Amino acid sequence: MTDRILIVEDEQITAEDLAEVLKGLGYEVSGVVTSGVEAIREVEKSQPDLMLMDIRIKGDMDGAETARTLRDRFDVPVVYLTAHADRDTLERAKHSRPMGYIVKPFHESELHASLEIALSKHRHDRSSWKRQQHVADVFGTLLLGVISVDQTETVRMMNRAAENLTGWSNEEAAGTPVKQVFRVADKTTGNEVELPIAEALQRRSLVDIRDRFLMAKGGDLKAISGNIAPLRGSDGGPGGVVIMFETGPAEPQVPDVSPKVIQQGNGHAFEFGRFRIVAASELMKQVLSFALRVAKSEATTVLLEGESGTGKDLLAQIVHYSSSRRAGPFVALNCSALPEALLESELFGREAGAYTDARTQKKGLLEVARGGTLFLDEVGDLSPAVQAKFLRVLEQQSFRRLGGVQEIEVDLRVIAATNRDLSDAVQSGAFRLDLFHRLSVIQIATPPLREHPEDILPLAKYFVQEYNRRYKAHIKGISAPTVKILNAYHWPGNARELRNVIERAMLLEDTDMLRPNSIQFASARAPRGPSHPVPPRVHTAPTDLSLKNSERTLIVQALEKVGGNKTRAAALLGVSRDILRHRMKKLKLLENR
Ligand SMILES: Nc1ncnc2c1ncn2[C@@H]1O[C@H](COP(=O)(O)OP(=O)(O)OP(=O)(O)O)[C@@H](O)[C@H]1O
Ligand SMILES: [Mg+2]
Repeated sequence: MTDRILIVEDEQITAEDLAEVLKGLGYEVSGVVTSGVEAIREVEKSQPDLMLMDIRIKGDMDGAETARTLRDRFDVPVVYLTAHADRDTLERAKHSRPMGYIVKPFHESELHASLEIALSKHRHDRSSWKRQQHVADVFGTLLLGVISVDQTETVRMMNRAAENLTGWSNEEAAGTPVKQVFRVADKTTGNEVELPIAEALQRRSLVDIRDRFLMAKGGDLKAISGNIAPLRGSDGGPGGVVIMFETGPAEPQVPDVSPKVIQQGNGHAFEFGRFRIVAASELMKQVLSFALRVAKSEATTVLLEGESGTGKDLLAQIVHYSSSRRAGPFVALNCSALPEALLESELFGREAGAYTDARTQKKGLLEVARGGTLFLDEVGDLSPAVQAKFLRVLEQQSFRRLGGVQEIEVDLRVIAATNRDLSDAVQSGAFRLDLFHRLSVIQIATPPLREHPEDILPLAKYFVQEYNRRYKAHIKGISAPTVKILNAYHWPGNARELRNVIERAMLLEDTDMLRPNSIQFASARAPRGPSHPVPPRVHTAPTDLSLKNSERTLIVQALEKVGGNKTRAAALLGVSRDILRHRMKKLKLLENR
């Protein structure tokens, strides 16, 4: 097939000569134009194989600009034919990545050779580009996620599966450090861990990715497995790596839960992913280790019993996130918070038309929690009707939506919690015995703080560190007299009350140690113990313990502490400035304007 050449030249005589020469050399001249605009129009129309272009042409666009546009838009290569070879012109011509540059006057044979080389080079480029495109297409169809990474551990490219799994687009990811794009956590501890890329590079062999969660961009955790393969660089040295991965194994293995001990609360705090729990006393250690064994077991129902504030919520989440169901959802429902009808529809979902106002179908939490854990808080408050329905779910492992006929299978673990003695409720007839039996196959009792006072100080220190971080405060510790007071108190509100006391003390404290003056107990009851070491209250001890009054006191104290600056007071109180203003208006601390 004859190659077709477009001539872009504003000198008519030269153009005509050229056309003759080209024809003589066996090419077809697809057109002769004199300006950039015409050239674009002509290329669009006749799609030549090459353009022979003068640099100075008619119109606003010069040859270099025209060539660049056409190269980007239509991939038509250009050979310049010009009388100008000054530095400037040459520089500008380079930007259009020309296939040749001939300075007039030229020899016919020189022109011929240049055109032939340009055409063959372009054909070669095009076919290698097509090959690349083909490889990219093949990669695109793979279900395996593929990410190529250079030696500086920066992403070069990834395929569609990797885009879907990581939540990053190829464009966003390219040029970004791989540890931002491909974040992984250990499956048993939930802690983020490094990818063994350096290891793959060093060992020059495949390294497995096992027991890992991929932390996708939207926050999803996906169990993945795969490997990292080293690439050889063009110089024979290491050239980066390719990460290949897929979701699965579909059924996550029962993890070997080995909690990480952290240096908080004197090294008595244990970390499970984002959850931390203090267990310094033998009693709490036993509770925790039992909970972890339950987590790993096949038990589908667990009952958490303990007074308010003893850590039932916390333990329920630790059980979930240390179990083989951790990749599934953790869904919590407080049984006392909703009226019966609403609770029922939350739990079981409903079909469209189940009520007059139910236009759409709604999934129940039993479905939402599929593959994960359903946490039923204050289970003792379930109404008799819902108790009966729920018992049926536990027995049959399936349920129907309200107004539905189809049986939906449930695959979940139920953790129920109660802060009152459920057996009392059974005695009084408020709670069904059969449901109680069903739920209480495995019971975990969270003990009240007064039964494990060894945890008071470690917990207090742990909360100090937590609020130091949250409020950007710098409390170094707890003074000896304060420790005494904390240890002597009977803590009716348990760990939650201790948390609140520490939080409030940190807001009130002016020095870098928590001193007795900043400690205020919510409970008016006398402290435990015969020695009565609590000093008389000096510091604005609230006689009116109403929520409103306590709030007012806290706000006033925060404002005093920061010289009336509302923004800083809001930060101290952990609320937005708007919320603070709103509360101040309500409490009449600020005029309504
Ligand atoms: N051992 C612990 N280590 C660290 N923090 C704890 C511990 N126990 C409780 N807490 C903290 O105390 C607070 C109250 O705990 P949680 O909400 O789990 O109690 P609860 O038993 O569910 O209370 P309620 O019965 O009122 O719902 C939470 O902020 C929790 O993080
Ligand atoms: Mg709770």
